[in-house]
Amino acid sequence: MTTRIGFIGVGGIAQVHLKNLQLSETAELVAVCDVNAEAANRAVEKFGGVAYTDFNQMISNELLDALFVCVPPFAHGDIEEKAAARSVHLFIEKPLGLDMDRVREKARIIAESGIITGTGYCLRYLDIVQEAKTYLLDRTIAMINGYYLTRFVTTPWWRVMAKSGGQLVEQTTHTVDLMRYFAGDVKSVYANMSLHLSQDIEGLDIYDVGSINLSFTSGVVGHVATTFIQPDHRSGVEILGRDFRVHIDGSTLTIIDHEKTITKKTKHDFYKEQDLAFLDAIRTGDRSKILAPYEEGMKTLAVTLAANESAATASPIVLR
Ligand SMILES: NC(=O)c1ccc[n+]([C@@H]2O[C@H](COP(=O)([O-])OP(=O)(O)OC[C@H]3O[C@@H](n4cnc5c(N)ncnc54)[C@H](O)[C@@H]3O)[C@@H](O)[C@H]2O)c1
Repeated sequence: MTTRIGFIGVGGIAQVHLKNLQLSETAELVAVCDVNAEAANRAVEKFGGVAYTDFNQMISNELLDALFVCVPPFAHGDIEEKAAARSVHLFIEKPLGLDMDRVREKARIIAESGIITGTGYCLRYLDIVQEAKTYLLDRTIAMINGYYLTRFVTTPWWRVMAKSGGQLVEQTTHTVDLMRYFAGDVKSVYANMSLHLSQDIEGLDIYDVGSINLSFTSGVVGHVATTFIQPDHRSGVEILGRDFRVHIDGSTLTIIDHEKTITKKTKHDFYKEQDLAFLDAIRTGDRSKILAPYEEGMKTLAVTLAANESAATASPIVLR
């Protein structure tokens, strides 16, 4: 059985998903839509399908089984609602939007529709993350620290708070999501964030440094450090319990306890694992391999938006 696929937004990350579709014997690219006609035409030349610049036309003209949503954070509009109304399964890039109430409403509509969803929290699909999960199964975490310390992203919408939500919401969201994956739901957030060094970048109004404290429902405490003022990239999560620690630093896992030190480097392509898990779920109806459905992406978004609110109001925010 063929899975008929459409895309909305065919910029940077969409190229990765489009390539991955070619790895599936059952996926067929039917149509792509981008407000930039050139981008839509380029994608069609390379990968096939029909090019659209109007989403409403694409979704009513084409019979789709699944839609990849790869638009920037500010541009989600009512894409998800329209797809769900036609029972089109959704793969949605992170972050899921910038307005928590809208995203909650989308989650309700998606749940009612019964469609299959996956979100772009690709780190969950790493073998080293799964190995860390297994190690932690019968252990108690006490503290979790995440970091995303990197370079500036030149994509024009990225530097604008109203369009990207800032680095924490748009990028460090991967780290926050991994922390949630290991430590569970977040209860409250207290963030210090500042635009300290990057005022000289034209049109930029996002924080360039951030220090965020998290309290988890389980009692675990956590911290996130985030910045884009660095010459290189480092990101990871360190998980501490009594007499052990688990450190995922980029592609390397280190586990240290009384008995051993284990170091392992992943060779996994997380985008491939993630996309094939989504396609497989559609083909078989078994959602168990999808590690970050819409509800999970929504919870991660709630933490990062609460951090923005906390930084703006200089007060802790309790999540609802
Ligand atoms: N999971 C990951 O590792 C990862 C990596 C990169 C980007 N992303 C996410 O993917 C999303 C897109 O990022 P990108 O880097 O591909 O951005 P991009 O700017 O390269 O591409 C976005 C595309 O969407 C199009 N677009 C904008 N509004 C649209 C609309 N209303 N309808 C149709 N098309 C529209 C633009 O013309 C552009 O071609 C972002 O949310 C980003 O956070 C995820």
